[in-house]
Amino acid sequence: MKILIVNGSPKGDHSITLHTCLYIQKHFPRHDFEVLHAGQKSAALLKDLSPLTEKMKEADLILFSYPVYTFLVPSQLHVLIEKMKEEKLSFEGKYMTQVTTSKHFYDVTAHRFMEENCRDLGMICLPGLSADMEDLLSEKGRKQALEFFRNVCWRMRGKPDLPVKKGPFEIVIVTDLKKEDRELGEKISLLKDCLPGMRVRVENLRDFPFAGGCIGCMNCAPDGKCIYQDGFDTYLREKIQRADAIVYAFTVRDHSMGSLFKMYDDRQFCNGHRTVTAGSPMAYIVNGDLSREENLRLLLKARADMGGNFLAGIGTDEASVRDTASCLTYALKTDYQVPRTFYGVGGSRIFRDLIFQMQGFMKADHKFFKQHGLYDFPQKRKGTILGMYLAGALFSNDKLRKKAAPQIREGMIGSYRKVLKDF
Ligand SMILES: Cc1cc2nc3c(=O)[nH]c(=O)nc-3n(C[C@H](O)[C@H](O)[C@H](O)COP(=O)(O)O)c2cc1C
Repeated sequence: MKILIVNGSPKGDHSITLHTCLYIQKHFPRHDFEVLHAGQKSAALLKDLSPLTEKMKEADLILFSYPVYTFLVPSQLHVLIEKMKEEKLSFEGKYMTQVTTSKHFYDVTAHRFMEENCRDLGMICLPGLSADMEDLLSEKGRKQALEFFRNVCWRMRGKPDLPVKKGPFEIVIVTDLKKEDRELGEKISLLKDCLPGMRVRVENLRDFPFAGGCIGCMNCAPDGKCIYQDGFDTYLREKIQRADAIVYAFTVRDHSMGSLFKMYDDRQFCNGHRTVTAGSPMAYIVNGDLSREENLRLLLKARADMGGNFLAGIGTDEASVRDTASCLTYALKTDYQVPRTFYGVGGSRIFRDLIFQMQGFMKADHKFFKQHGLYDFPQKRKGTILGMYLAGALFSNDKLRKKAAPQIREGMIGSYRKVLKDF
């Protein structure tokens, strides 16, 4: 397959993001990769777009590689997209995906911006990789980069069944299905049919004898025991969280999943802020017009991202329910995991700080955070802080700044180049 890496970073071959793509290139030698430094050559390309657009037309896959800049993409890439649209270019049926690095601050809006514009240009958008700028330096980050690209290839091959023999997996479908809700019932049945070889179980929240909604008494803070005697905490832990994957199935009500799901989510406070299902995939089956529900769509994604769960899909009609089933199967068989985005990274930092302060009271959470290394405070990175003091001292002297600037540039990319050599 011919892959064009459109490098949108103004830093050209000093781009950290590009190094993630080069790492992918190194590990997929069967594919033919080419890099075009579009961000750096933006001014020239604006006068004549053809060196970029000709290559885009020849490629089977266009891989946009760029840093997240201020909620979106760098202006150098932005203006090229603008120009392509002004010129009414079409890349009908061309596959695109994207790799970004950032600190996850509004990476979601940048990815969405690219998807929306590439769709306008006729492209088929495949989920991208939003990596932290340091991810390539860790084994986990490198694995995620390769798994991301393997997933892109699998999608482009038409999502074939994988031969991997693992499992059987247990999938729990949590729903608030009413008897008269025929459409939702049919979607649930279709999903089950599309998951052959899996142990699929349905938990209907309507059958659970909820004693009431969470009253915020904080009784559960030290040990996770809810004040209600209805057994919800045990039900949650044994019937739902133990499954290999959770699928939530509901009909859109009042721009939400409905009040019964709200009670279910609030009652999960007995689980505090412990992301006990992190690493396992999840999905939704939705009945109703989700395309009109901007807030609900955001909520569904944030709910998955906060839990550290790969969102395999949101099935709303026959095709997308089938697609959700194959992506869920793929995720289970390959243990597919993606980095968290702004929703999850931002949210978990809020909780990290909160639980640290409340450690004397929210004992179960504190224990979990300590055990799972979730107290990743920047204060702990003494080497980085010292390095920054040194760079700051050099940069505060004009003469030294001129001399040091190229070295800092080299120094910043040096460790990424080393990764490319060593791994
Ligand atoms: C102008 C500018 C804006 C940035 N805006 C964001 C941002 O909105 N969110 C974020 O997480 N990181 C932001 N960053 C950090 C970069 O995304 C990050 O350093 C990236 O890894 C650089 O990649 P590159 O070396 O490929 O250019 C910004 C950096 C610059 C210079």
